[in-house]
Amino acid sequence: MNTVLPLLSDSGLPSGSPGPDRLPDSARAGLTTTPFGLYVHVPFCATRCGYCDFNTYTSDELGPGANRAEYAGTAIAELRRAAETLGPDLPTISTVFVGGGTPTLLPADDLAAVLAAARDLFPMDDDVEVTTEANPESVTPASLARLREGGFTRVSLGMQSAAEHVLAVLDRRHTPGRAVEAAHEARAAGFEHVNLDLIYGAPGETDADWAASLDAVLASPVDHVSAYALIVEDGTRLARRISRGELPMPDDDVLADRYETADATLRTAGIEW
Ligand SMILES: C[S@@+](CC[C@H](N)C(=O)[O-])C[C@H]1O[C@@H](n2cnc3c(N)ncnc32)[C@H](O)[C@@H]1O
Ligand code: SF4
Repeated sequence: MNTVLPLLSDSGLPSGSPGPDRLPDSARAGLTTTPFGLYVHVPFCATRCGYCDFNTYTSDELGPGANRAEYAGTAIAELRRAAETLGPDLPTISTVFVGGGTPTLLPADDLAAVLAAARDLFPMDDDVEVTTEANPESVTPASLARLREGGFTRVSLGMQSAAEHVLAVLDRRHTPGRAVEAAHEARAAGFEHVNLDLIYGAPGETDADWAASLDAVLASPVDHVSAYALIVEDGTRLARRISRGELPMPDDDVLADRYETADATLRTAGIEW
């Protein structure tokens, strides 16, 4: 089993009481003998996609006390507190995952500073995998190069679809080609591991659209693909549009067919589970 330490609370703000509290020995038992992962949540997005219910905030939604410019410093303070709480025999980190939201809305220097602090505070495996999620429109060749130089080894980009009308229904801000272009930029920056996320079953998506999305990721320089069935989450703009009858509910049989197409196409291309 992989132990994952969530760095920040669900609110996206430092959790718990002010002073460092050591965990009781019983809670720390086994910490140093099981794989230990660090998850850093960056809860900012430029805009909210209609289907998404992740813990994330746009600039308009941010209240006082939570701003992007101070976020890396806050995360580092929380890391220090986590190390005090878990110590003195700290577990060795085998994976770091910086997720969102859109972590790459923060400057690459800030993400590199958080990673450097984690390295200072915790032992890390020599071959630690360090991933950041990224939106295609939020990275540049220069920012990707800085992330690589700062110790990130893997980038996971949200592509969702190669069809323009599907991206529009999902409220995505990038063009169909931008995600693949960003994957190329990540490889050019030295990332060996690049993932593209796809979503299938969006209203209006056809079998041909889905096949084209799979073809596009297979023609890109990725070593991993995440294909998600669209989930209509309560409270999202997508759910409201469906309940008003503006968009159809994804059909379970269509979702099952798309899943089978993805499984067969990716497997044939040599991408195994
Ligand atoms: C938390 S997002 C972070 C990635 C990045 N912010 C982006 O959107 O490009 C991770 C992935 O979750 C998936 N996802 C989010 N909400 C979903 C939903 N309601 N149904 C299916 N997939 C979803 C999308 O594929 C998205 O790329
Ligand atoms: S899918 Fe990604 S960009 Fe869209 S709102 Fe969710 S976290 Fe933000």
